[in-house]
Amino acid sequence: MFALDLIIKKRNGQKLTKGEIEYFVNGYTKGEIPDYQASAFLMAVYFNGMDTDETLWLTEAMLNSGDRVDLSAIPGVKVDKHSTGGVGDKTTLVVAPIVASYGVPVAKMSGRGLGHTGGTVDKLESIPGFRTNLSREEFIRNVREIGIAVAGQTENLVPADKKLYALRDVTGTVENISLIAASIMSKKLALGSDAIVLDVKTGSGAFMKTVAEAERLARLMVDIGNGAGRRTVALITDMDRPLGNNIGNALEVKEAVETLNGKGPEDLKEVCIELAANMLFVAGKGEIELCRNLAAEAIEKRTALNKLIEMVIRQGGDPKVIEDTSKLPRAEFRAEWKAEKSGFVEKMNAERLGIASVLLGAGRKTKEEAIDPAAGIELVKKTRDKVEKGETIAFLYASDENRIHEALQVLKSSIVIGPEPVPEKPMILGRIQ
Ligand code: URA
Repeated sequence: MFALDLIIKKRNGQKLTKGEIEYFVNGYTKGEIPDYQASAFLMAVYFNGMDTDETLWLTEAMLNSGDRVDLSAIPGVKVDKHSTGGVGDKTTLVVAPIVASYGVPVAKMSGRGLGHTGGTVDKLESIPGFRTNLSREEFIRNVREIGIAVAGQTENLVPADKKLYALRDVTGTVENISLIAASIMSKKLALGSDAIVLDVKTGSGAFMKTVAEAERLARLMVDIGNGAGRRTVALITDMDRPLGNNIGNALEVKEAVETLNGKGPEDLKEVCIELAANMLFVAGKGEIELCRNLAAEAIEKRTALNKLIEMVIRQGGDPKVIEDTSKLPRAEFRAEWKAEKSGFVEKMNAERLGIASVLLGAGRKTKEEAIDPAAGIELVKKTRDKVEKGETIAFLYASDENRIHEALQVLKSSIVIGPEPVPEKPMILGRIQ
């Protein structure tokens, strides 16, 4: 078998066999198939897709590329969560402490930014000293002792995804249902949580642009999860506008802390409560309405905030930046993005806002690039808001002035200002189990 044969077969729209998919995944993971052939293969999959069998085989091959984490030493129903990725999506930082504050163990391995979307690991690393590279033993010990750990994928947990994820990020091959489902579910299955809540984002800032596509992805992942014996629920949530007001790593940590302090933006709070409620629900804490109340209470009583502080201390981070978020990394340059006309914000293209934040330094343009923890965007206006010509729409932060000019060019075409306020849209668009 040669990698070239598989590339040609997929390029021609044919179905691959289980053996061929295993050959590709193993060959690429071991470094026997080079990046350029893997890129061509991924692009062929992007254009021609994979059917359900191929997606299951891909998930299995990726899952078998490394170790599995045995969480059986941790008592209780372990619950995991995963988002398909969005702009301003800092929900893990809010939701994991809420759930853990009720004694439900959360053992979460998160990713880095992908394409125009941010990643939880990058966000957490903006907390000075915070370590995301925990050893397997430390990860399990933390969950057993304080009920929560959020870390990067350890080297040998789905190594196939580690390589493929980084390659997809820079080759325009992220937005494919099979590749996303296999990437997410191989990681969820390798990490032995008992139940999984998936946040499938849809809209301009998500990889799935329509609700119908998001539903297909959600159904596929829920079936893979339940089929593997894990209780799996997916929420479809809106990502047609950025979630919350802040985009960029330290800026998002700040907003997550504000949310746990009861002062966060409504849209973020709504999605976090719903995700946390579903995690408590699958952990058996009661009916969904009761779980919603529990989630809201953990914010009101600051028990979730205390849990976040506990986690930050455990993972080597400086808790003072959580107690006083003005101590988080700050950018050297700040600029304003101003409205060119008066009216109401009709639309904000979340993907373009994500791209602008990458240009500011909050994400990576190449696999090797380092990110700037302080870079990003703070929105003052959002969809439906009234705006006057010359008023500030957002503040931009960067450590290099040139980056601000580049980002402003992208932002100009990311907004539509119209004469009337647009109708309000719900944040939660569906639930699949
Ligand atoms: N999140 C993942 O973990 N993988 C993807 O492919 C997309 C989002």
